[in-house]
Amino acid sequence: MSVALKRRAAEAAFAFIEPGMRLGLGTGSTAAEFVDLLGARVAAGLDVVGVPTSARTFAQATALGIRLTTLEETPDLDLTVDGADEIGPNLALIKGGGGALLREKIVAASSAGMVVIADASKTVAELGAFPLPIEVVPFGFASTLRRLERLVAELGLTADLRLRPGPASDPYLTDGGHWIVDASFRRIPDPSRLATALDATVGVVEHGLFLGFATAAVVARDDGVEVLRP
Ligand code: 5RP
Repeated sequence: MSVALKRRAAEAAFAFIEPGMRLGLGTGSTAAEFVDLLGARVAAGLDVVGVPTSARTFAQATALGIRLTTLEETPDLDLTVDGADEIGPNLALIKGGGGALLREKIVAASSAGMVVIADASKTVAELGAFPLPIEVVPFGFASTLRRLERLVAELGLTADLRLRPGPASDPYLTDGGHWIVDASFRRIPDPSRLATALDATVGVVEHGLFLGFATAAVVARDDGVEVLRP
């Protein structure tokens, strides 16, 4: 997806922002465009406060002079603006390609609204082509993986531990100190059913199915921006 389209979606999200808002700040390259633009608006006098969803976003927002808070200080947020890996029917999402799904889901759950920003390539008729990120506790990983493999094996598919980029084959470590399994389902015809099964899997901390969170999606195309509602 082109940077110009990410930027266009990020710009259009400001239609949802009002002075004084308490914002959840997402993670990923599209969310980073939004945070960058927010920094410029804050420098020009916009008064908002943000809760970042990752160490990366914390560092970016801090460098831009955006006032930050925590969910301990500010447990109720007005709006989260975040990217997504897939946007399906009813604005059901797959998130977590950037590894921040746990904090992203906690922040989204603390927000009255969630605006997803993306380019049109992220919209799909059915979720599942993008491997579903599942955050797991390192303790007992082999045992948790077996339970996850049983879930996906019925479909003849795979669940792989995400590794850090680079020559060493160390597991990718989330901000919460967990690991991520990427599960290739190819098709997720019933996201609610899968979410319930994953919620009940011991060792799973959280998964990247965001169902019922997004209140709008701003989708950028070459010829403009479309706002989708659930
Ligand atoms: C991070 C996420 C991101 O929002 C998602 O991966 C989309 O990222 P990008 O905007 O770089 O395509 O869920 O955990």
